[in-house]
Amino acid sequence: MKKTVPIAGLAILWIGAAQSVAGQNVPSLKDVFKADFLIGGALNRNLVTGRDPNAADLAVRHFNTATAENDLKWQRIHPQLSEYNWEPADSFVAFCEQNRMFVIGHCLVWHSQVPRSVFRDDTGNNLTRDALLARMEEHIRTVVGRYKGRIQGWDVVNEALNEDGTLRNSSWLQIIGEGSEDKRYDYIECAFRWAHEADPNAELYYNDYGLETSRAKCDGAVALVKHLKSKGLRIDGVGIQLHGGLTYPSVEGLEYAITSLAATGVKVMITELDIRTQTRGYRGADVSQVSRDSTSDPTAVAAETQKKLADKYAEIFSLLLKHKEDITRVTFWGVYDKTSWIGGSPLLFDRNCQPKEAFFAVVKAAQRQ
Ligand code: XIL
Repeated sequence: MKKTVPIAGLAILWIGAAQSVAGQNVPSLKDVFKADFLIGGALNRNLVTGRDPNAADLAVRHFNTATAENDLKWQRIHPQLSEYNWEPADSFVAFCEQNRMFVIGHCLVWHSQVPRSVFRDDTGNNLTRDALLARMEEHIRTVVGRYKGRIQGWDVVNEALNEDGTLRNSSWLQIIGEGSEDKRYDYIECAFRWAHEADPNAELYYNDYGLETSRAKCDGAVALVKHLKSKGLRIDGVGIQLHGGLTYPSVEGLEYAITSLAATGVKVMITELDIRTQTRGYRGADVSQVSRDSTSDPTAVAAETQKKLADKYAEIFSLLLKHKEDITRVTFWGVYDKTSWIGGSPLLFDRNCQPKEAFFAVVKAAQRQ
Protein backbone atom coordinates (compact mmCIF):
# COMPACT_ATOMS: atom_id res chain seq x y z
CA MET A 1 0.00 0.00 0.00
CA LYS A 2 1.29 3.45 -0.94
CA LYS A 3 1.96 5.67 2.08
CA THR A 4 0.78 9.23 1.89
CA VAL A 5 2.26 12.11 3.85
CA PRO A 6 -0.42 14.57 4.91
CA ILE A 7 -0.01 18.05 3.45
CA ALA A 8 0.30 19.58 6.92
CA GLY A 9 3.15 17.16 7.66
CA LEU A 10 4.96 18.18 4.50
CA ALA A 11 4.62 21.82 5.43
CA ILE A 12 6.16 21.14 8.84
CA LEU A 13 8.99 19.18 7.21
CA TRP A 14 9.63 22.03 4.82
CA ILE A 15 9.65 24.67 7.55
CA GLY A 16 11.97 22.46 9.60
CA ALA A 17 14.39 22.18 6.68
CA ALA A 18 14.33 25.91 6.09
CA GLN A 19 15.04 26.54 9.75
CA SER A 20 17.83 24.02 10.06
CA VAL A 21 19.75 25.93 7.41
CA ALA A 22 19.13 29.15 9.26
CA GLY A 23 21.56 31.81 8.28
CA GLN A 24 23.26 29.53 5.74
CA ASN A 25 22.18 31.41 2.62
CA VAL A 26 23.34 34.75 3.88
CA PRO A 27 26.88 36.14 4.04
CA SER A 28 29.01 34.92 6.91
CA LEU A 29 29.73 37.76 9.33
CA LYS A 30 33.32 36.67 9.89
CA ASP A 31 33.90 36.95 6.12
CA VAL A 32 32.06 40.25 5.85
CA PHE A 33 34.35 41.80 8.51
CA LYS A 34 37.48 39.78 7.69
CA ALA A 35 39.58 42.84 6.89
CA ASP A 36 38.22 44.84 9.85
CA PHE A 37 37.98 42.93 13.14
CA LEU A 38 37.16 39.55 14.64
CA ILE A 39 33.47 38.75 15.07
CA GLY A 40 32.18 36.52 17.84
CA GLY A 41 29.57 35.59 20.37
CA ALA A 42 29.11 34.40 23.92
CA LEU A 43 28.51 30.64 23.91
CA ASN A 44 26.32 28.94 26.50
CA ARG A 45 26.29 25.34 27.79
CA ASN A 46 23.53 24.17 25.41
CA LEU A 47 25.53 25.27 22.42
CA VAL A 48 28.81 23.75 23.52
CA THR A 49 27.28 20.41 24.54
CA GLY A 50 25.30 19.93 21.32
CA ARG A 51 21.86 20.41 22.88
CA ASP A 52 21.30 23.45 20.67
CA PRO A 53 22.74 22.41 17.30
CA ASN A 54 21.18 25.35 15.44
CA ALA A 55 23.03 27.77 17.69
CA ALA A 56 26.26 25.85 17.12
CA ASP A 57 25.72 26.01 13.33
CA LEU A 58 25.23 29.76 13.51
CA ALA A 59 28.31 30.25 15.68
CA VAL A 60 30.52 28.14 13.43
CA ARG A 61 29.31 29.87 10.30
CA HIS A 62 29.47 33.45 11.52
CA PHE A 63 32.08 33.69 14.31
CA ASN A 64 35.87 33.47 14.41
CA THR A 65 36.08 34.24 18.13
CA ALA A 66 34.06 33.14 21.16
CA THR A 67 33.66 33.92 24.84
CA ALA A 68 32.21 31.51 27.40
CA GLU A 69 29.01 33.10 28.72
CA ASN A 70 29.49 31.60 32.21
CA ASP A 71 31.88 28.63 32.14
CA LEU A 72 35.05 30.46 33.16
CA LYS A 73 33.48 32.49 35.95
CA TRP A 74 34.80 31.82 39.45
CA GLN A 75 31.53 30.38 40.72
CA ARG A 76 31.40 27.76 37.99
CA ILE A 77 35.05 26.85 37.54
CA HIS A 78 36.11 27.08 41.22
CA PRO A 79 32.93 26.46 43.26
CA GLN A 80 34.70 25.49 46.50
CA LEU A 81 38.02 26.53 47.95
CA SER A 82 39.71 23.25 47.09
CA GLU A 83 37.55 22.17 44.17
CA TYR A 84 37.85 23.07 40.50
CA ASN A 85 35.15 22.13 37.99
CA TRP A 86 37.00 21.92 34.69
CA GLU A 87 34.54 20.10 32.45
CA PRO A 88 32.45 23.09 31.25
CA ALA A 89 35.45 25.25 30.43
CA ASP A 90 37.34 22.33 28.89
CA SER A 91 34.46 21.62 26.50
CA PHE A 92 34.10 25.31 25.64
CA VAL A 93 37.80 25.58 24.77
CA ALA A 94 37.66 22.33 22.78
CA PHE A 95 34.65 23.61 20.80
CA CYS A 96 36.51 26.82 19.94
CA GLU A 97 39.64 24.91 18.91
CA GLN A 98 37.70 22.52 16.70
CA ASN A 99 36.21 25.52 14.94
CA ARG A 100 39.39 27.60 14.86
CA MET A 101 38.04 30.44 16.96
CA PHE A 102 40.09 32.98 18.93
CA VAL A 103 39.30 31.98 22.52
CA ILE A 104 38.43 34.54 25.22
CA GLY A 105 38.51 33.69 28.92
CA HIS A 106 35.83 35.61 30.83
CA CYS A 107 36.66 36.48 33.59
CA LEU A 108 39.21 36.16 36.41
CA VAL A 109 38.34 38.84 38.97
CA TRP A 110 34.78 40.17 39.31
CA HIS A 111 32.44 41.08 42.17
CA SER A 112 29.63 38.94 40.75
CA GLN A 113 29.31 35.17 40.21
CA VAL A 114 32.00 34.54 42.83
CA PRO A 115 31.14 32.53 45.97
CA ARG A 116 30.94 34.74 49.07
CA SER A 117 33.07 32.15 50.86
CA VAL A 118 36.05 33.31 48.78
CA PHE A 119 36.20 36.41 50.97
CA ARG A 120 35.75 34.67 54.34
CA ASP A 121 37.69 32.42 56.65
CA ASP A 122 36.39 29.24 58.30
CA THR A 123 34.68 31.20 61.04
CA GLY A 124 32.85 33.46 58.57
CA ASN A 125 34.98 36.56 59.16
CA ASN A 126 36.44 38.58 56.33
CA LEU A 127 39.87 37.42 55.22
CA THR A 128 42.93 39.58 55.75
CA ARG A 129 44.39 41.42 52.78
CA ASP A 130 47.26 38.92 52.45
CA ALA A 131 44.96 35.91 52.70
CA LEU A 132 42.65 37.21 49.98
CA LEU A 133 45.58 38.09 47.74
CA ALA A 134 46.85 34.54 48.19
CA ARG A 135 43.47 33.11 47.13
CA MET A 136 43.31 35.37 44.12
CA GLU A 137 46.84 34.40 43.10
CA GLU A 138 46.12 30.70 43.42
CA HIS A 139 42.94 31.05 41.33
CA ILE A 140 44.57 33.06 38.56
CA ARG A 141 47.68 30.90 38.29
CA THR A 142 45.62 27.69 38.29
CA VAL A 143 42.99 28.77 35.75
CA VAL A 144 45.24 30.71 33.36
CA GLY A 145 47.95 28.05 33.72
CA ARG A 146 45.58 25.23 32.74
CA TYR A 147 44.68 26.93 29.46
CA LYS A 148 48.13 28.35 28.72
CA GLY A 149 48.54 28.71 24.96
CA ARG A 150 44.88 27.76 24.38
CA ILE A 151 42.92 30.73 25.76
CA GLN A 152 44.37 33.63 23.80
CA GLY A 153 42.82 36.59 25.61
CA TRP A 154 41.65 37.10 29.19
CA ASP A 155 39.21 39.53 30.77
CA VAL A 156 41.48 39.82 33.80
CA VAL A 157 39.32 42.27 35.74
CA ASN A 158 35.63 42.85 35.05
CA GLU A 159 33.52 45.85 36.11
CA ALA A 160 35.80 47.42 38.74
CA LEU A 161 34.46 50.96 38.21
CA ASN A 162 31.47 53.01 39.34
CA GLU A 163 29.49 55.31 37.03
CA ASP A 164 31.54 58.29 38.22
CA GLY A 165 34.85 56.60 37.41
CA THR A 166 35.85 55.80 40.99
CA LEU A 167 36.62 52.23 42.00
CA ARG A 168 33.64 50.03 42.87
CA ASN A 169 33.46 49.22 46.55
CA SER A 170 33.59 45.44 45.98
CA SER A 171 34.91 42.95 48.49
CA TRP A 172 38.12 42.89 46.44
CA LEU A 173 38.64 46.60 47.00
CA GLN A 174 37.41 46.62 50.59
CA ILE A 175 39.74 43.86 51.71
CA ILE A 176 42.78 44.25 49.46
CA GLY A 177 42.55 48.01 49.15
CA GLU A 178 42.14 48.26 52.93
CA GLY A 179 40.43 51.56 52.32
CA SER A 180 43.74 53.25 51.71
CA GLU A 181 44.52 55.49 48.75
CA ASP A 182 47.95 54.01 47.96
CA LYS A 183 46.58 50.45 47.89
CA ARG A 184 43.44 51.13 45.91
CA TYR A 185 44.71 49.68 42.60
CA ASP A 186 46.58 46.82 44.25
CA TYR A 187 44.16 44.01 43.52
CA ILE A 188 43.94 45.02 39.87
CA GLU A 189 47.71 45.32 39.52
CA CYS A 190 48.25 41.93 41.14
CA ALA A 191 45.63 40.29 38.92
CA PHE A 192 47.31 41.55 35.75
CA ARG A 193 50.78 40.59 37.02
CA TRP A 194 49.80 37.01 37.91
CA ALA A 195 47.80 36.47 34.72
CA HIS A 196 50.82 37.56 32.68
CA GLU A 197 53.17 35.31 34.63
CA ALA A 198 50.84 32.35 34.17
CA ASP A 199 50.70 32.79 30.38
CA PRO A 200 53.16 35.36 29.03
CA ASN A 201 51.72 35.12 25.51
CA ALA A 202 48.06 35.72 26.41
CA GLU A 203 46.45 39.08 25.75
CA LEU A 204 45.11 40.76 28.87
CA TYR A 205 42.07 43.04 29.05
CA TYR A 206 40.09 45.25 31.38
CA ASN A 207 36.33 44.90 30.68
CA ASP A 208 33.37 47.08 31.76
CA TYR A 209 29.91 48.36 30.84
CA GLY A 210 28.71 51.94 30.50
CA LEU A 211 32.03 53.28 29.18
CA GLU A 212 30.09 54.48 26.13
CA THR A 213 27.34 56.23 28.13
CA SER A 214 29.31 57.82 30.99
CA ARG A 215 32.34 59.96 30.16
CA ALA A 216 33.34 59.95 33.82
CA LYS A 217 33.38 56.16 33.88
CA CYS A 218 35.34 56.05 30.63
CA ASP A 219 37.84 58.54 32.09
CA GLY A 220 38.17 56.21 35.08
CA ALA A 221 39.07 53.36 32.73
CA VAL A 222 41.61 55.57 30.96
CA ALA A 223 43.20 56.40 34.34
CA LEU A 224 43.28 52.71 35.23
CA VAL A 225 45.02 51.77 31.98
CA LYS A 226 47.57 54.57 32.45
CA HIS A 227 48.23 53.45 35.99
CA LEU A 228 48.86 49.83 34.96
CA LYS A 229 51.13 50.95 32.14
CA SER A 230 53.05 53.27 34.49
CA LYS A 231 53.78 50.19 36.63
CA GLY A 232 55.11 48.35 33.59
CA LEU A 233 52.24 45.85 33.57
CA ARG A 234 50.89 44.25 30.42
CA ILE A 235 47.45 45.37 29.30
CA ASP A 236 46.51 44.81 25.67
CA GLY A 237 42.97 46.05 25.49
CA VAL A 238 39.87 47.46 27.07
CA GLY A 239 36.53 45.79 26.47
CA ILE A 240 33.53 48.05 26.05
CA GLN A 241 30.70 45.62 26.85
CA LEU A 242 28.12 47.73 24.96
CA HIS A 243 24.83 46.52 26.34
CA GLY A 244 22.85 49.16 24.45
CA GLY A 245 19.24 50.08 23.80
CA LEU A 246 17.19 51.42 20.89
CA THR A 247 18.10 55.02 21.80
CA TYR A 248 21.60 54.62 23.27
CA PRO A 249 24.53 54.86 23.23
CA SER A 250 24.90 58.06 21.25
CA VAL A 251 27.46 58.17 18.46
CA GLU A 252 29.32 60.85 20.44
CA GLY A 253 29.43 58.75 23.60
CA LEU A 254 30.70 55.64 21.84
CA GLU A 255 33.21 57.61 19.79
CA TYR A 256 34.51 59.34 22.93
CA ALA A 257 35.07 55.94 24.55
CA ILE A 258 36.81 54.41 21.52
CA THR A 259 39.11 57.36 20.89
CA SER A 260 40.05 58.11 24.50
CA LEU A 261 40.78 54.46 25.29
CA ALA A 262 42.74 53.96 22.07
CA ALA A 263 44.79 57.10 22.84
CA THR A 264 46.31 55.25 25.83
CA GLY A 265 47.83 52.77 23.39
CA VAL A 266 45.55 49.79 24.01
CA LYS A 267 43.26 48.06 21.56
CA VAL A 268 39.52 48.51 21.95
CA MET A 269 37.08 45.61 21.83
CA ILE A 270 33.31 45.47 21.87
CA THR A 271 32.87 42.47 24.10
CA GLU A 272 29.19 41.92 24.97
CA LEU A 273 27.12 43.60 22.28
CA ASP A 274 23.34 43.51 22.43
CA ILE A 275 20.60 46.13 21.96
CA ARG A 276 17.74 45.94 24.42
CA THR A 277 14.38 46.23 22.64
CA GLN A 278 12.35 47.15 25.70
CA THR A 279 12.09 50.89 26.16
CA ARG A 280 10.88 50.92 29.76
CA GLY A 281 12.54 49.72 32.95
CA TYR A 282 16.18 49.37 33.96
CA ARG A 283 18.61 50.45 31.21
CA GLY A 284 22.01 49.49 32.54
CA ALA A 285 23.98 46.27 32.55
CA ASP A 286 24.42 45.65 36.27
CA VAL A 287 23.82 41.90 36.56
CA SER A 288 22.13 42.29 39.92
CA GLN A 289 19.38 44.37 38.30
CA VAL A 290 18.84 42.52 35.04
CA SER A 291 16.69 39.43 34.69
CA ARG A 292 14.87 37.91 31.76
CA ASP A 293 11.56 38.53 33.50
CA SER A 294 12.19 42.19 34.13
CA THR A 295 13.06 42.68 30.47
CA SER A 296 10.44 40.47 28.81
CA ASP A 297 9.19 42.52 25.92
CA PRO A 298 5.87 42.05 24.11
CA THR A 299 6.75 44.58 21.40
CA ALA A 300 10.10 42.99 20.57
CA VAL A 301 9.04 41.40 17.28
CA ALA A 302 6.95 44.35 16.04
CA ALA A 303 8.17 45.66 12.67
CA GLU A 304 8.67 49.13 14.11
CA THR A 305 10.90 47.79 16.90
CA GLN A 306 12.92 45.69 14.48
CA LYS A 307 13.42 48.70 12.20
CA LYS A 308 14.73 50.76 15.13
CA LEU A 309 16.96 47.86 16.13
CA ALA A 310 18.38 47.64 12.60
CA ASP A 311 19.01 51.40 12.52
CA LYS A 312 20.84 51.32 15.86
CA TYR A 313 23.00 48.37 14.80
CA ALA A 314 23.79 50.11 11.49
CA GLU A 315 24.82 53.28 13.33
CA ILE A 316 27.04 51.37 15.75
CA PHE A 317 28.74 49.28 13.07
CA SER A 318 29.35 52.31 10.84
CA LEU A 319 31.16 53.93 13.74
CA LEU A 320 33.11 50.78 14.58
CA LEU A 321 34.23 50.53 10.96
CA LYS A 322 35.31 54.17 11.00
CA HIS A 323 37.61 53.25 13.93
CA LYS A 324 38.59 49.81 12.74
CA GLU A 325 42.31 50.60 13.15
CA ASP A 326 41.75 50.69 16.91
CA ILE A 327 39.16 47.91 17.19
CA THR A 328 40.25 44.28 17.09
CA ARG A 329 37.07 42.40 18.00
CA VAL A 330 33.28 42.67 18.18
CA THR A 331 31.52 39.99 20.25
CA PHE A 332 27.74 39.64 20.64
CA TRP A 333 26.43 38.56 24.06
CA GLY A 334 24.62 35.49 22.80
CA VAL A 335 24.03 33.91 19.40
CA TYR A 336 20.32 34.33 18.67
CA ASP A 337 17.45 35.99 20.55
CA LYS A 338 16.44 32.95 22.58
CA THR A 339 19.90 32.73 24.10
CA SER A 340 20.06 36.33 25.27
CA TRP A 341 20.41 37.11 28.98
CA ILE A 342 18.10 40.16 28.68
CA GLY A 343 15.15 38.65 26.82
CA GLY A 344 13.30 40.51 24.09
CA SER A 345 14.93 40.64 20.69
CA PRO A 346 18.40 42.14 21.12
CA LEU A 347 20.57 40.15 18.66
CA LEU A 348 20.92 39.69 14.87
CA PHE A 349 19.15 36.31 14.66
CA ASP A 350 15.57 35.71 15.82
CA ARG A 351 14.17 32.95 18.04
CA ASN A 352 14.19 30.55 15.08
CA CYS A 353 17.79 31.41 14.24
CA GLN A 354 16.70 33.40 11.17
CA PRO A 355 18.63 36.57 10.25
CA LYS A 356 16.68 39.73 11.09
CA GLU A 357 16.56 43.14 9.46
CA ALA A 358 19.36 44.11 11.86
CA PHE A 359 21.59 41.39 10.38
CA PHE A 360 21.21 42.80 6.88
CA ALA A 361 21.74 46.34 8.16
CA VAL A 362 25.07 45.30 9.67
CA VAL A 363 26.17 43.62 6.43
CA LYS A 364 25.17 46.72 4.49
CA ALA A 365 27.23 48.92 6.82
CA ALA A 366 30.27 46.85 5.88
CA GLN A 367 29.52 47.08 2.16
CA ARG A 368 29.13 50.87 2.35
CA GLN A 369 32.62 51.55 3.74
C1 XIL B 1 25.59 37.26 32.35
C2 XIL B 1 25.18 35.96 31.67
O1 XIL B 1 24.81 36.24 30.34
C3 XIL B 1 24.04 35.32 32.42
O2 XIL B 1 23.77 34.01 31.89
C4 XIL B 1 24.38 35.19 33.90
O3 XIL B 1 23.26 34.70 34.60
C5 XIL B 1 24.78 36.54 34.46
O4 XIL B 1 25.86 37.07 33.71
N1 XIL B 1 28.31 41.59 32.12
C6 XIL B 1 29.19 40.53 32.06
C7 XIL B 1 28.67 39.17 31.79
O5 XIL B 1 30.41 40.73 32.14
O6 XIL B 1 29.43 38.17 32.41
C8 XIL B 1 27.23 39.02 32.17
O7 XIL B 1 26.77 37.74 31.73
C9 XIL B 1 26.40 40.14 31.57
C10 XIL B 1 26.88 41.48 32.05
